[in-house]
Amino acid sequence: MLRVAVLISGTGTNLQALLDATGTGVVPARIVLVVSSREDAGGLARAERAGVPTAVVRPEDYADREAFDLAIDDILRRQEIDLVCLAGWMRILGRSFVERWIDRILNIHPSLLPAFRGLETHARVLEAGLPVTGCTVHFVRPEIDAGPVLVQGIVPVLPQDTAESLRLRVLEVEHRIYPRALALVASGRVRVEGEKVQIADERPGERLVVHPLVLALAAASS
Ligand code: GAR
Repeated sequence: MLRVAVLISGTGTNLQALLDATGTGVVPARIVLVVSSREDAGGLARAERAGVPTAVVRPEDYADREAFDLAIDDILRRQEIDLVCLAGWMRILGRSFVERWIDRILNIHPSLLPAFRGLETHARVLEAGLPVTGCTVHFVRPEIDAGPVLVQGIVPVLPQDTAESLRLRVLEVEHRIYPRALALVASGRVRVEGEKVQIADERPGERLVVHPLVLALAAASS
């Protein structure tokens, strides 16, 4: 059983998706710790409801990034964590932390990486006038929102979309790709080779989730 820590800074809907997926025993992983960078993060209540121990590690309580990262590293090691899942974690982790946990940290980002790294992704997708966007689960590297891609989700952009309506549609798919990514890692079939993800005995479509509207739109346009 893979021992997983989830790091959050906010509402924790992705944390909830991971708790739901691991709670049934179908995914051979157990979330044994939730770390929040804020004491008012809504996700903390989700962890408590699921009976998962929590820790709050606030950057303002540490002299610098290195000290903050070391505090997190210490908690993770004491809990014998195998895999770290960043789920709405809004702090940058330093190079030495990332290198210590190389290929053992996953992140979810609300765009089709490598496009739209950083913040305000949905507003920027609308600004660019693109018909499609999505979300990505990837292994973390020291550069922001970079690293080998594991699973992506495809979401259509509709003419009447606002950044908020698009955010909510992308979030629906985030809640499907993160459990998928965790299940793949927990199955032991995933390796990172030459900065690319290899999945043993990969089946077509295993790295891809599409929003149901994609299928409806494809049928309507054919
Ligand atoms: C999610 O949309 C996630 O992709 C995003 O924050 C949100 C957290 O929501 N993460 C990033 O933008 C990281 N670059 P949640 O707290 O409800 O899971």
